[in-house]
Amino acid sequence: MIKISIIYASKTGNTHAVAKYMADGMNETKDVEARIFHYSDVDEEFVKESQGIVFGSPTYMAGPTADFYTWLEESGKKLNLEGKMGGVFATEQYIHGGADLTMNSLLIHLLIYGMMVYSGGRAFGKPVIHLGPVEVSPEKEKFEELFKIYGRRFAQQIIKISK
Ligand SMILES: Cc1cc2nc3c(=O)[nH]c(=O)nc-3n(C[C@H](O)[C@H](O)[C@H](O)COP(=O)(O)O)c2cc1C
Repeated sequence: MIKISIIYASKTGNTHAVAKYMADGMNETKDVEARIFHYSDVDEEFVKESQGIVFGSPTYMAGPTADFYTWLEESGKKLNLEGKMGGVFATEQYIHGGADLTMNSLLIHLLIYGMMVYSGGRAFGKPVIHLGPVEVSPEKEKFEELFKIYGRRFAQQIIKISK
């Protein structure tokens, strides 16, 4: 069984909801077990055993939340991230609200931790997922399919490279 962790920050539930959609998409893939964790309540053993880890944050002031950013700085090194596949996602309130900048900041952390980063990009045609999937709050239901698609693509890529 291939394990995948999704670690997120969320205060009002949007990022939590889309993390669940993403896990649903991953869990549709045979031989994959995906679980979601709020960053304050991570099952470290499961994360260490995971071959892929996806990080998601709300957009605060066009970046990740300060709490999540600090957690990633301090706790990332305990989670054996090196060499694993990593991905990112974000939520925002406005289409121009800066979610790309949020994901860019997270991706830089992942690179520095030595992860291999993945979005799927244009490899599967539409929807092209550039840096990672984004939800514009509070319309989470409208983004369910996008997050499931990303979850499936991420899980299938892990299966592909693990063979
Ligand atoms: C302090 C604060 C700053 C925010 N800054 C932005 C922002 O720069 N751009 C934006 O689009 N939304 C911004 N938002 C809205 C949140 O990104 C959005 O509501 C998000 O989905 C909240 O996620 P959550 O429900 O998982 O906590 C901000 C919200 C708060 C509370």
